[in-house]
Amino acid sequence: METKLKGKHFITTQDWSVQELQTIFQLAKQLKVEYATGKFHKILDGKSLGMIFFDPSTRTRTSFEAAMTQLGGHSIFFAPNTMQISHGEGAKDTAKVLSGYLQGIAVRFCKYGEGNRYLEELRANSRVPIVNMQCDVYHPAQILADYLTIMEQFGENTRGLKLGVSWTSAPNYIRPISVPQSLILMMPRFGIDVTLAHPPEFKLMPHIVEQAKKNAEEAGVKFEISDKMEDAFEDADIVIPKSWGPLVYTQDEQEGLKLIEKYPGWVADEKRMALTKPHSIYMHPLPADRGKEVTPEVIDGPHSVVYREAENRLHVQKALLSLIL
Ligand code: CP
Repeated sequence: METKLKGKHFITTQDWSVQELQTIFQLAKQLKVEYATGKFHKILDGKSLGMIFFDPSTRTRTSFEAAMTQLGGHSIFFAPNTMQISHGEGAKDTAKVLSGYLQGIAVRFCKYGEGNRYLEELRANSRVPIVNMQCDVYHPAQILADYLTIMEQFGENTRGLKLGVSWTSAPNYIRPISVPQSLILMMPRFGIDVTLAHPPEFKLMPHIVEQAKKNAEEAGVKFEISDKMEDAFEDADIVIPKSWGPLVYTQDEQEGLKLIEKYPGWVADEKRMALTKPHSIYMHPLPADRGKEVTPEVIDGPHSVVYREAENRLHVQKALLSLIL
């Protein structure tokens, strides 16, 4: 267990050792049990977290706000159009000023090619921890919740489990690639074999894939990439099928939407779930596009743990904030 995490930024799990991440999970489990018995804490008494949302959110905003309240702290929601960001104030001045008032700055900024750069500029200029609530490259808080859910299902030793991360078709809008990227980076470090499946135009960032391969090699686990959805489901203990945009291939929205429509058959359905192990779990960070990404029989079926996964956002974030703020 690591106890010296105060002030540590949380932009990607890659900056955290396995031991440091284990500390979050250990505390999250304790806080979850205490939550179940109605026990709240004053760990963050008098502390404030600023939360800047460039993009919409249901789970992330609510779970971070509730986390701060339940820990005795306070959160401030900012929409950039209500800040001087709207008049061009940059990350440097925003970070320098806000870190004089607050104990943490959390940001969601998913615009491809901009979000992570903005977070890194905040990090370089902030005196308090920067928390990534999803950018164009990473969604680390989601992946913490995913791993807690996996541990609850399969126990603390997750070595040898197979996780299938698959692209799915959902032509409504272009979703970021941060969830699959964060999954392939972190899960191998906990001994989990990962198969990533997507059509050719939906590749992830090459440097992230290289890092994921390196993580898998160091952990002695498998990391495979396929262009067949079934490969992610075959003998899997866990499947996380979700949509993302062909952002590495094209940033043109209309071209991207056309490419998604090229693969309507990439759906998480019962036929594919039948390829997984009998005890397998179906996960999705939500929001899910029902009927397109996943059939109702699967998302509402016996393998699905999506609502527990969503609730776990609260518990892992309470642990994270307790440790770093
Ligand atoms: N999974 C997730 O980040 O959900 P929101 O977009 O609703 O925050």
